[in-house]
Amino acid sequence: MEANASQASVLVVDDDPKSLQALKELLRGLAPSIVLANSGEAALRCVLKQDFAVILMDVRMPGADGFATARLIREHPRSHYTPIIFVTGADEDLRSMFRGYEAGAVDYILKPVVPEILKSKISVFIDLYYKNEVLTREIAERKRAEEDLKASQENLRALAARLQSVREEEWKRISREIHDELGQALTGLKMDLTWVAHRLLPKQKALAQRTRSMFSLIDDTVQSVREIATRLRPEVLDELGLAAAIGWQARDFQMRTGIRCKVSLPADPPPLDQERSTAAFRVFQELLTNVARHANATRVDVMMQADADRLMLVVEDNGKGIAEEEAVFSPKSMGLLGMRERMLPFGGNIEIRGRPGKGTRVTVSVPVGLK
Ligand SMILES: Nc1ncnc2c1ncn2[C@@H]1O[C@H](COP(=O)(O)OP(=O)(O)OP(=O)(O)O)[C@@H](O)[C@H]1O
Ligand SMILES: [Mg+2]
Repeated sequence: MEANASQASVLVVDDDPKSLQALKELLRGLAPSIVLANSGEAALRCVLKQDFAVILMDVRMPGADGFATARLIREHPRSHYTPIIFVTGADEDLRSMFRGYEAGAVDYILKPVVPEILKSKISVFIDLYYKNEVLTREIAERKRAEEDLKASQENLRALAARLQSVREEEWKRISREIHDELGQALTGLKMDLTWVAHRLLPKQKALAQRTRSMFSLIDDTVQSVREIATRLRPEVLDELGLAAAIGWQARDFQMRTGIRCKVSLPADPPPLDQERSTAAFRVFQELLTNVARHANATRVDVMMQADADRLMLVVEDNGKGIAEEEAVFSPKSMGLLGMRERMLPFGGNIEIRGRPGKGTRVTVSVPVGLK
């Protein structure tokens, strides 16, 4: 039967039944359980079945002697670290002492045994055994807690990634529908209006004036529809890829904000899958939004670089410089947190450095993920 994990047991090994009984008497009250073995072989069977706080081992025994038994005990993972105290006659020579240490002995006791010495040695090991138990339990609990935490973080991350991709798909669909259906309806409206305009008599000046303003309203609406659709999902990203989309977004940013945006793109950008391109592009948009909202900058330099396995995107502004505590991690910085989460599923990362009064530099790095 498996020994109770919280009860320390002592194994006493001696071929002489009288010594065994005497030692048992001596140790009574020290350990909750004392197991007796009258040979090396019997001792081995015991250590295979249960753990011991310490083994008290007679050196001279017929068959496997104490040293040989100790060596075999050390060979089993379960008893590899179990402390062994050899009990040896005062006439044992020094050579056999060395043999004992080779076998991994931890202590000796000379015969005749002095009860106080034996008891104090045994109680030290029992104490150690209990402390070790507590430590082992604490380590196991901590490990389990760490694993739980890791698993729940991974679940959250997977959920975030899934939500992100569902949202992107949805935006793409809405963007197409707005573009195609509203676009077609507006084109139809314009054709009908042209038909009406052609049938107006020269004297119907007020109506002609009204149709002209309707034409211009339709044109403005067509333009807005295009802009809304593009904002939801830029076609250029799907059709021409990340580098082209970044170039386009930078020009649009410069036009809208007046902040000069210089872009340097690789001549031959690596092909990226859609998830990675989308994630990098959304991070880039968020970075530009932050520059416009917080940096007070007059220029932004964007550099995209790629090698065989990584794509790097550096966005550097010449504004006030992000404060260190915000750059490192702030639970309030949802934008930055979102960017980091965007990169996590691909093993990408984002490094942010602010220099007060000089600007902010953000480096985004994404593994291209192609085999
Ligand atoms: N380029 C920048 N220059 C200076 N400060 C910046 C820059 N980018 C971010 N910050 C600072 O870091 C903070 C966190 O940015 P983050 O994008 O996480 O949040 P936010 O832009 O304030 O809100 P949102 O959640 O809408 O993005 C900002 O509030 C701002 O103070
Ligand atoms: Mg932001």
